[in-house]
Amino acid sequence: MSLALPPVGFGTYQLNGLSGVDTVISALRVGYRLLDSAMNYENEGAVGTAVRRSDVPRDEIVVTSKLPGRHHAYDLAVTSIEESVLRTGLDRLDLHLIHWPNPSHDLYVEAWQALVDAQRRGLVFHIGVCNFLPEHLDRLERETGVLPAVNQIELHPYFPQVEALADHRRRGIVTQAWSPLGRKSDLLTNPVVVEVAEQHDLTPAEAVLAWHAAVGAVPLPKASSQERQRQNLAAVGHVLDPAAVERLTALGRPDGRLFDGDPATRVED
Ligand SMILES: NC(=O)c1ccc[n+]([C@@H]2O[C@H](COP(=O)([O-])OP(=O)(O)OC[C@H]3O[C@@H](n4cnc5c(N)ncnc54)[C@H](OP(=O)(O)O)[C@@H]3O)[C@@H](O)[C@H]2O)c1
Repeated sequence: MSLALPPVGFGTYQLNGLSGVDTVISALRVGYRLLDSAMNYENEGAVGTAVRRSDVPRDEIVVTSKLPGRHHAYDLAVTSIEESVLRTGLDRLDLHLIHWPNPSHDLYVEAWQALVDAQRRGLVFHIGVCNFLPEHLDRLERETGVLPAVNQIELHPYFPQVEALADHRRRGIVTQAWSPLGRKSDLLTNPVVVEVAEQHDLTPAEAVLAWHAAVGAVPLPKASSQERQRQNLAAVGHVLDPAAVERLTALGRPDGRLFDGDPATRVED
């Protein structure tokens, strides 16, 4: 089954417990149909509960979770995926991703094989990865014959990932953008972002998310208030002029990552 994703999803990192349930229900009510969770966010229960309690039909929602680094070995991965599904209280996940490649542990191909098998068993509809570099994608294809449907990567104007976007496009992989608003960095007060936003009569957050749409990525902004949720959802419908897209992309810099998140070296538990 081919993967058709909404143009924007809802990030849920740090949305936990009952207030997390309420915030995710609010996002569903506003119109989000793609939810991004992870075992390591410890909120698969909150996200699954929100999906079950909301009025939105289950089949309209793409529920995502992620396999943590400590569960890459095949047998651990199989159980971990099953546990993720159980924690949501749903009958399946719609998208399950390997959270980080952890190349120094060299087990991500085993993890991928477990995801491929879980998909065959109907536990998860679609499978993908996060933070995979081209060499990691090459290896998955070479050793399992199956390419991820999605690669979720850090992507915002300070780290625009132009080569990765082109590489994914060539391979037919959907690019999802994590921390699209730059989380707590100064991105939304950067003078170029502010100027581009003013020129288009948008807020800085809207301008940045419209940039994601222009470069062909699916952003996953997290927002607590319904007002911001609504603003972010609609933002991908705004069209920036090509010069503005280029100006935002030109904010990119080699050290533009938000934290020490180089997938070539990072080890994520
Ligand atoms: N795969 C991975 O390795 C990975 C890594 C990191 C994140 N992620 C995913 O990506 C999602 C998004 O990333 P993130 O949570 O790090 O950061 P983000 O979405 O880039 O930024 C969230 C911050 O922006 C604020 N914000 C939201 N909408 C705004 C608006 N319209 N105007 C001004 N400020 C606004 C939020 O404030 P309030 O919350 O107070 O509204 C929050 O402080 C995560 O939730 C998670 O699902 C994945």
